[in-house]
Amino acid sequence: MSNLYRFGISLDKDLIDRFDNHIRLKDYNNRSEAIRDLIRDELVRKQWQAGDEVAGAITMVYDHHKRELANKLMDIQHDYGDTIISTQHIHLDHHNCLEIIAVKGSAKNVQHLANKLRSQRNVNHVVVNMSTTGKILT
Ligand code: NI
Repeated sequence: MSNLYRFGISLDKDLIDRFDNHIRLKDYNNRSEAIRDLIRDELVRKQWQAGDEVAGAITMVYDHHKRELANKLMDIQHDYGDTIISTQHIHLDHHNCLEIIAVKGSAKNVQHLANKLRSQRNVNHVVVNMSTTGKILT
């Protein structure tokens, strides 16, 4: 890293002890990488809040036997063809399907898509994994 910048941080002993315990549990080798990840997480969170271009995944669990549900979910996903990169469908058991929908686009569109899926009757669980296109992190 040619552009490496060093700076010092003053913290209460209790706080640094808790942080060191935290990074040990997370398998970090040193504080620097742990702090870099905290900064990256905050920058990504701000991207989502601002409605910027983001990437991520929506995971959804539903019962495909419920009347018309699979067709309705497919219709919604077709309306977001510009946002959805790919979809993986896993048959969890006789009733339940898990879909992992990879997305890239405006954070607002991704949230709208997730809300439409989540609000369907008999969709049992929807989570948005908020990640990034990676452009701000290099
Ligand atoms: Ni299935």
